[in-house]
Amino acid sequence: MPADSAAEVRGKLVVVGQGYVGLPLSMRAVEVGWDVVGLDLDARRVDRLAAGDSYVEDVTSGELRSALDSGRFKPSVDYADCSDFDVVVITVPTPLQDGAPDLTYIEQSSAALASHIRRGATVILESTTYPGTTEELVAPLLEQGSGLKAGVDFHLGYSPERIDPGNRAWTFVTTPKVVSGIDPVSLAAVQGFYDTVVEKTVPVSTPREAELSKLLENTFRHVNIALVNEMAMYAKELGIDIWETIDAAATKPFGFMKFTPGPGVGGHCLPIDPSYLSWQVKQALGASFRFVELANDVNDHMPEYVVRRVAASLNAQRKPVNGSRLLLLGLAYKKNTGDARESPAPRIAEMLIQMGGDVRVVDPLVEASATVGGLGDRMVELTADEVAAADLVVVLTDHDSFDYAMVEESAAHVLDCRRVPELVSAERL
Ligand SMILES: NC(=O)c1ccc[n+]([C@@H]2O[C@H](COP(=O)([O-])OP(=O)(O)OC[C@H]3O[C@@H](n4cnc5c(N)ncnc54)[C@H](O)[C@@H]3O)[C@@H](O)[C@H]2O)c1
Repeated sequence: MPADSAAEVRGKLVVVGQGYVGLPLSMRAVEVGWDVVGLDLDARRVDRLAAGDSYVEDVTSGELRSALDSGRFKPSVDYADCSDFDVVVITVPTPLQDGAPDLTYIEQSSAALASHIRRGATVILESTTYPGTTEELVAPLLEQGSGLKAGVDFHLGYSPERIDPGNRAWTFVTTPKVVSGIDPVSLAAVQGFYDTVVEKTVPVSTPREAELSKLLENTFRHVNIALVNEMAMYAKELGIDIWETIDAAATKPFGFMKFTPGPGVGGHCLPIDPSYLSWQVKQALGASFRFVELANDVNDHMPEYVVRRVAASLNAQRKPVNGSRLLLLGLAYKKNTGDARESPAPRIAEMLIQMGGDVRVVDPLVEASATVGGLGDRMVELTADEVAAADLVVVLTDHDSFDYAMVEESAAHVLDCRRVPELVSAERL
């Protein structure tokens, strides 16, 4: 059934984790009539939510304030506010710790939720994780803390999130959502919930298929980006324009999907999720997931390649990196987002600083407080003076808000890692 935007009250929903995934879900649920508790242990985030100040690009502060004004959105740091929920969705982080999955946030939130589960309630995990997490980790924690049985007393399922921050064509509502349950009744409950908030749900047999589908999607991207990254490096050596090559290949109407090279992968998904898969394959089967290992290797080395290209570009001007003024555009891991987690740009900046480069960085979307690697002091505005004073301008992230016409006009030299159309005289990755 498609989502109904009529604001009939549907029940109490708790969204655990109010980040890039949890906050857009909370807003949509309020819009379609759920009473929503937005739970997060980060008191600073909860204070900002309560003040109507959004920190997630896909949610405007205006949307947040409308949700607050409706009286059906309550940001909270207190698990006591979960009591008597109908549906809870867990959207907490799943990082890597020394190369291994770190599921402590899922464990903590499941344990904290357990005592608030009532009969007939539905618990859904959305955090990206390896197959088996819902049934082997979350279910026992919920059962131990509640004294209830998953699948008998309450429903349990998994639904991977596909949100693509900054993507205006495919939003949370229009992107089909894979749904699963630990039994048919749980599946019906999970699907019933998502049918109220997204246009299309796609049921699969068990949580394992749903969990693996997310890892497959991200590994597919990771591997294909590694493929074009490696090809870009060889094409450069061979004197072939990789960008024109990719455009030509992309005219094939079937059997090809376009991916473009860049300074490396970042964000909360690509550098992490494939390693969840390779870790599990290693643990469970003793085998190495070679595609993932190879893609990690290629993508992890892209920042070093960019630094080599910077050095080569300066060398052609008879300048060393040491002492040269370098203006790096974009710290976020991709365009039009302020998310700098795992972004290759700060690593590139650090390497150039270590080599003695006089590095300045521009990124109006990344909050100075979130700036990784102590780059806060090096943040500047994108002005014609800054551009003109740089020995080399390096485009690492192609935010739409940058004035590329000014860069094209004012810069002495540009190394463009993203192929910005306006930068016609730039050297490209
Ligand atoms: N960001 C994306 O584009 C994206 C896309 C698809 C899937 N995912 C997955 O979704 C999950 C969440 O990602 P995100 O980007 O929203 O993370 P995030 O860091 O933006 O938000 C997670 C929030 O959870 C809170 N939190 C941590 N432990 C908690 C606890 N025990 N109780 C309550 N709140 C707690 C944190 O304070 C944080 O605000 C991850 O598994 C990620 O891999 C992310």
